[in-house]
This record gives sequence, C-alpha cells and structure tokens, in this order.
Amino acid sequence: MNATSKPFSAMPSLAFGDLTARIPIVQGGMGVGISLSGLAAAVANAGGVGVIAAAGIGLLEPDGFKDFLGANVRALRREIRRARELSQGVLGVNIMVALTNFADLVKTAIEEKIDIIFSGAGLPVNLPEFIAGSKTKLVPIVSSGRAAALLAKRWLDKYNYLPDGFVVEGPMAGGHLGFKAEQLEDPDCDLEKLVPEVIESLRPFRSLGSPDGHPICGHRGVRRRPGLQGILYQSQGKRPEDHQESCGHARQGYRQ
Ligand SMILES: Cc1cc2nc3c(=O)[nH]c(=O)nc-3n(C[C@H](O)[C@H](O)[C@H](O)COP(=O)(O)O)c2cc1C
Repeated sequence: MNATSKPFSAMPSLAFGDLTARIPIVQGGMGVGISLSGLAAAVANAGGVGVIAAAGIGLLEPDGFKDFLGANVRALRREIRRARELSQGVLGVNIMVALTNFADLVKTAIEEKIDIIFSGAGLPVNLPEFIAGSKTKLVPIVSSGRAAALLAKRWLDKYNYLPDGFVVEGPMAGGHLGFKAEQLEDPDCDLEKLVPEVIESLRPFRSLGSPDGHPICGHRGVRRRPGLQGILYQSQGKRPEDHQESCGHARQGYRQ
C-alpha cells in the first residue's frame, strides 16, 4: 500500500510543536477571495490545517479598491474570527512577504490568535519580530535547503526563535517560487530531492529545537494536498458542511 492509497486514518498526525493536526494535510493559501473562512474551517474540521489567504482578501469589501490596505486588514480579521466560530481545528493564514502591508497583516493575525502563519513569496526574515507573548506558530514556505537554513540561522541569531516548521515547494507547485523555467523539468529540483536537502540543511539546528524536530511538509503533484482539488468547488458564502462535501470529493479523488 503506497502513501497515496493510505486511508487518512492510517496517516501520522502533523505536529508543529504543541499544536497537532490529526491529518497531515495543509490546505494551500490561495489569494483574492479563494481561501477564506468557509474553506479553511472545512479543512480544519476534517482534521487538516485550514488556511486563509491574506492576499487581496479585502477586495470583496465595499471600499476594497478605495482603501485597499485598510480593507485587507479588516477582512482578514473578520475571516479569522468567522473561521474560529466555524471550527476549533487548526487554522492558519498565508501572508506573502511581497504584500505591501505584510507587517500589519501579520500583527492582525497574531492579535486574532491564529494558530499558524505560513509565509513565502520572499524570505520572511523578520517574522518573529511580531510574535512576542503569542502562541502563533511560524512556518516559512521555501524551495531550497539554503533558504531554510538561512532563515533558521537568521531567526535564531536575531530573535532566538526557530521556525516551527517548513513548507517545501517544488517546481510543480503553483504559486510564487524561485525556480527558473529551465528548472521546472530538472530532476535535481524534484521535491523528492528538495525535502531531504531541506532536512539536511536543518541538521545543525536540530539539537536547538523542540524534541520532535520540525515538521517539513512537501507539496507537489505527487503528494498533492487532496483539499486543493476540492477547492475548485468553493464559492462565496457556502456553509462549511457544503465544503465538507467538496473535501469529501477531494478525499475520493485522492484515494484514486
Ligand atoms: C489560485 C491560486 C492562488 C494562490 N494564491 C497564493 C497566495 O496568496 N499565497 C501563496 O503563498 N501561494 C498561493 N498560491 C499557491 C498555493 O498556495 C500552493 O502553494 C500551490 O498551489 C502549490 O500547491 P499544489 O501543488 O498543491 O497546487 C496560489 C495558488 C493558486 C492556484
């Protein structure tokens, strides 16, 4: 029975220090109104990590174009609160470094006691700056061992803080990656190569971190997060249980 045909119940849970998701699936953060509270709550209720994407989240606000930055902060706060009302599962936000008001969005997410901040599209070198006194976990999105080690060293030196986990994205993952076109088919950039490379690059930090090490999640077509397929079903204002159905669909798809 290979990994892709294992029933979810047979899969290991996914721990970020003292925070555990029953099913090792992290839903992708998809901006501009795709990954909102409804979808995130559905994934969290199904046992995975549900993620709200901060990019362009305010565009659905009445003043989304007039006060773009302010609307983003307000909408993020509202969506986190709504997701929390809908789910006691593990909830995260995806905040890209490239976003203009990155710092304000991070502060808002921490004020709202989000469980995890996932951050990529650049190296979130100063993310721990905002963390004081909060339980929120910090998980950078990287696509190389070099980036992972650089962040771990920088955070440790500057903030005495180590990442609570990493998301590793290979060239097949959509989104914002540092791969050149010619690397997309390069077997050396395969996720199966990247994940061990990231694990190896973190070896020097192993003894400094939590006893169970740092979870490293890989994302590429092969280990596609089944939730993503279900995401295509999402539309505004659907109840989580409607999304449960789409996650159910995804689950079926996944097993095939
Ligand atoms: C429509 C869409 C919007 C996305 N928006 C974001 C985003 O706001 N932030 C981000 O870090 N990644 C974004 N991504 C990348 C996804 O979160 C995910 O990392 C990527 O799709 C890789 O996963 P996959 O191989 O399972 O598709 C987006 C992807 C899609 C398809």
